[in-house]
Amino acid sequence: MSDNKVVLNYDGNSFEYPIVDSTIGDRGIDISKLRDQTGLITLDLGYKNTGATLSDITYLDGDNGELYYRGYPIEQIAEKSNFSEVMYLLLHGELPTQDQFLKFEGGIKKYNYVADEMKKILDVFPRSAHPMGVLSSLTSALTAFNPKAVNVNSKEEMDEAAEMLLAKFSHLCAWTYRKKLGLSINHGDNNLNYVENFYKMCFRRPNMDFELDPVVVGALDKLLILHADHEQNCSTSTVRMVGSAHTGLFASVSAGISALWGPLHGGANQAVIEMLEMIEQDGGDVAKYVEKAKNKDDNFRLMGFGHRVYKNFDPRATIIKKAADDILTALGIEDKALDIAMQLERVALEDEYFVSRKLYPNVDFYSGIIYRALGIPTEMFTVMFALGRLPGWISQWKEMRLHNDPIGRPRQVYQGAQKRDYVDLSAR
Ligand code: CMC
Repeated sequence: MSDNKVVLNYDGNSFEYPIVDSTIGDRGIDISKLRDQTGLITLDLGYKNTGATLSDITYLDGDNGELYYRGYPIEQIAEKSNFSEVMYLLLHGELPTQDQFLKFEGGIKKYNYVADEMKKILDVFPRSAHPMGVLSSLTSALTAFNPKAVNVNSKEEMDEAAEMLLAKFSHLCAWTYRKKLGLSINHGDNNLNYVENFYKMCFRRPNMDFELDPVVVGALDKLLILHADHEQNCSTSTVRMVGSAHTGLFASVSAGISALWGPLHGGANQAVIEMLEMIEQDGGDVAKYVEKAKNKDDNFRLMGFGHRVYKNFDPRATIIKKAADDILTALGIEDKALDIAMQLERVALEDEYFVSRKLYPNVDFYSGIIYRALGIPTEMFTVMFALGRLPGWISQWKEMRLHNDPIGRPRQVYQGAQKRDYVDLSAR
């Protein structure tokens, strides 16, 4: 290997593959000619070593626990910015000026409603339906009400589509929440900012005066910021993959919601609380569950532990752990689940199994404790994650379309039957 290329010796021949530079982090080997030249393909289950795209949105350094949105460290963003500004930053690449920010907020407010007929779709779901299934269906249904394909060569149309989805999606998330609780839906309020508006749509009771609680709004804002983007994770890759077939934005995001639902991905925040409740009901024996997680004959895993990329610590988890503590104190709530979570973290972090595999608490380990303190039902936790991740999905979809990435179509190493002749049913 020299500095800018990799040499592959195979079958008596030598092939050169250029190295693609990065501004920071992993550089890539461009193997686009590999199959044509050698007849070989690469095999990388779970894409552990495969770069699927060039991107300039989010960077994360798994060894040092660093996460940047458009170059800005997550710690600074979480402390100083707000979710609306982060949405702009991810979508447009720079922090907005005051004028740009007002225009962006105005663009979202223009679409701060959802067609009345969509409520009929909501009504036919049983109340027992999981909110993520409802959310994915409603998001896909948005296409029926907004069928015009976005002209990706028009900046105005791309911006408008993004603002429309940001506005309507917050309604759909609030609707799934109200549905779960059996409450009628609230309409958007253009006097409020994005997070306040969402908060009001969720929590305003028909029979009471409504007041915004700044502690709750601040907590929600921070959680949404921490979830806003995370480069090529499973749901984002799904959005990009589906969108690479030139599928529309709403349908692509709907697919991403389904991917996020899984307990190994966003669904972990629900699974963590369920696990903590189970440990509590079982007498609080934390060590027993750490042993279960280590036992290869037991398929129990410590939910909220481990990450494909972070192999030291998840910087979002550090911020969330502190926020959970602050919010519980501010709201005067004592939650046994937080004690169990802290014990679990202590025991696991000293255990050779977790240390040697570099398994640390991830963003979902403490987020559920905050959602629970805010009175959000457990099944709604992943919906909260989806609302946070939305600007990331849209930004990545937009980048993919603007780069004109080719349709995503992996290859395979086939290991099935060789060619054989069909045998008639009577002869089998
Ligand atoms: N509990 C017990 N063992 C674990 C855990 C865990 N939570 N996570 C990984 N391991 C073990 C795993 O069994 C394997 O052991 P061995 O080498 O002996 O076979 C080793 O650690 C490597 O695990 P892996 O499954 O190959 O790692 P991965 O990179 O494919 O998976 C993960 C990453 C996040 C899916 C996994 O750590 C996991 O299932 N964690 C629990 C679910 C969770 O918290 N997910 C949320 C991720 S953060 C939010 C998001 O962005 O989605």
